[in-house]
Amino acid sequence: MADSSPTRFVDAPGTPLLGSLLPISRNALAHFTALLTQHGDRVRLRLPGRNVLLLAHPEDLEQVLVRDREAYGRSAELRKLRPIFGDGLLSSEGELWRRQRSLLQPSFQHDALLQYAALMLRTLQEHIDSWQPVQHRDLHADMMRYTREVICAVLFGERFLTEHTGVAEAVTTVFTGLRSELLYLPLWRRLPLRRSRAWNQAVALLNRSVAQQVAERRSSGHDHPDLLGALLRARGPAGEAMSDAQIHDEILTFFLAGHETAALTLTWTTALLAQHPEAQERIREEVTALTGGTRPLSPADYPRLRWSAAVIKESLRLYPPVWSMGREATRQTVLGGEPIAPGTDVWLCIHKLHRDPRWFAQPEAFLPERWIDQPAPRPYTYVPFGIGPRVCIGQHFATMETVLGIASMLSRFTLHPVSPLPAEPSAWITLRPRRPILLEVRAVPRPG
Ligand code: HEM
Repeated sequence: MADSSPTRFVDAPGTPLLGSLLPISRNALAHFTALLTQHGDRVRLRLPGRNVLLLAHPEDLEQVLVRDREAYGRSAELRKLRPIFGDGLLSSEGELWRRQRSLLQPSFQHDALLQYAALMLRTLQEHIDSWQPVQHRDLHADMMRYTREVICAVLFGERFLTEHTGVAEAVTTVFTGLRSELLYLPLWRRLPLRRSRAWNQAVALLNRSVAQQVAERRSSGHDHPDLLGALLRARGPAGEAMSDAQIHDEILTFFLAGHETAALTLTWTTALLAQHPEAQERIREEVTALTGGTRPLSPADYPRLRWSAAVIKESLRLYPPVWSMGREATRQTVLGGEPIAPGTDVWLCIHKLHRDPRWFAQPEAFLPERWIDQPAPRPYTYVPFGIGPRVCIGQHFATMETVLGIASMLSRFTLHPVSPLPAEPSAWITLRPRRPILLEVRAVPRPG
């Protein structure tokens, strides 16, 4: 195997004033991939007013996210979202983050998750029941609906969306509308544009609905078995409850972090499966072996869906929805022997790491079998959910939601390409398909 040590730091070429700004705004994923391919694992980027290190080596990931994590804080990009999402788990730091993480952790552990499995299966079955036997579908739209309904039901109970029409649309407007103008031009929200007005109205509606739910629950005094119930019950070390503002921020954060990411995982997985009929067939065989073809999947089947889980794992390797993670150095430190000044931005390119031939044989190929009965890859080479103390709190939730989702879907329908595949990704905060991916779904004939 070739030398697997990280290469030395190299300055990226770029125009004197703007540096990499234009190529990044045109196509950040293509630019980062080209830089890391040409110059190695550690590239210094020039951007107006910023010092950026672009990294893609597992040793550097370990250093930034684990060993030397106290020297790094949340990224400048994430901090810009604070006026909207406040101090939820994704953006908070220090003591507040530590307290909230330990209060929220139990809601994402095994027993709590099991009660969500039935809900996930029910939600997906209801969607699929409405599909025609042969139809062209934009499955990303379907998957966004599925994960939106799941997160709303998990947060507020299963009847919430039917009783609060308008919230589903507001969630879509707010979160799919998170684009660069919002981050880099706070003024955009105040411009009299149709899109900015619609966005502001959707944020206001969402804020009102969350506040109303919290107020109703507090005044009724009834305990509910959903995530809002858990937030209201949680008590800190001195017996203190969460404030309404903190609960609001956590709920908006769950929408932000847990809705589109899971939908994208399913979208990319369906696009990959449409190109690999043999992998689809193995999912169907796996489901039939469990259900005998006579009953729908049940939560108890989940741990036995090994092939479906390997398909999701491989899809997350090739198309990690969080394709790049950011941090900012908060104090003087050292990385790879180089001094790092406070304020330096560090961008960890997960997409490149996951396709590195030093860690994965045939890195561009879709090979779910690499995750079955094979030695685990080298640590820190596969990190779709991050790593270290700030690893995704929803990783087991998302894995369950996507594995059950793909297995249910494939047991009822086969997928066939209509749009040209592989689809081209477009990377900003998340890795989205650049254009809608249309697939043909065909009902699997029922036995008998
Ligand atoms: C396949 C779907 C998902 C992917 C790929 C994903 C990915 C990630 C990644 C990479 C991080 C770490 C970010 C960083 O360190 O900078 C993260 C954090 C987080 N994720 Fe997820 N996520 C997914 C689903 C979910 C779901 C379903 C939820 C909640 C229901 C969720 C909630 C969170 C939260 C709250 C954090 C912040 C954790 C902390 O800082 O303590 N995620 N996610």
